Amino acid sequence: MTDRRPMIAGNWKMNLGGDEAAVLVKDISEGIKGVQGVEVLVAPPFTLLQTVREAIGSSPVFLAGQNMHWEPRGAFTGEISGRMLQESGCTHVILGHSERRSLFGETSEDIDKKAKTAVLLGLIPVICIGETLEERETGRTFKVIKDQLDRSLANFIKDGLLLPSTILAYEPVWAIGTGKTATPEQAQDVHSFIRKWVADNFNTGTAQHVRILYGGSVKPSNVSELMSQTDIDGALVGGASLTADNFIPIVCYK
Ligand code: PGA
Repeated sequence: MTDRRPMIAGNWKMNLGGDEAAVLVKDISEGIKGVQGVEVLVAPPFTLLQTVREAIGSSPVFLAGQNMHWEPRGAFTGEISGRMLQESGCTHVILGHSERRSLFGETSEDIDKKAKTAVLLGLIPVICIGETLEERETGRTFKVIKDQLDRSLANFIKDGLLLPSTILAYEPVWAIGTGKTATPEQAQDVHSFIRKWVADNFNTGTAQHVRILYGGSVKPSNVSELMSQTDIDGALVGGASLTADNFIPIVCYK
């Protein structure tokens, strides 16, 4: 076993108003008081970051952006820079979520550039990868995962350095928002493949430190089994992160 600290992350996507968000994060902060050894992260929509940061106060909840641009500034209407995220209190940024890839045309090359910029700024990237149902059913899961890793982390490979703080998130597209979860064994198989990929492309020390989260219909009833797998170091939670009643028991999965 290693000393990887489990992380439970809530991706709020395009949900919640300011008042709801403040109440939710205050309830989460209250509900996780005294919980040891688990990092908690929330990723609100951009416009709620300041509100949520204030509501977090001194509670140990980390804040993430759901996306960012790779350039530091410029004529990029509708985009947000990494520095802007930091100024709003973010320590982390989710990159390459499958909704960004499939609905907004983000490529692994875009994600590669974003990840490099994030790390240069000192933001911890949560880099998402995952196969579609068709890819799984045609036996291409590992090929697709390898390809996404090769291309989304190409700059890090080129530099020969992956910071051990980097977080990877395996999110099978067919399990996101569908109620279908990968079985703990299916998830573990891919997580161990990803860890081996990190060892092969960087080194075993880095592979032992990098956390790999699972995402896709994680809920209070399935989190413990998923977290009991050797290479699953946390969860990236969508739907069930929107209420304290669901999210707190996920954080308190032990
Ligand atoms: P879900 O979403 O938990 O609603 O399946 C997960 C995600 O998109 O990160």
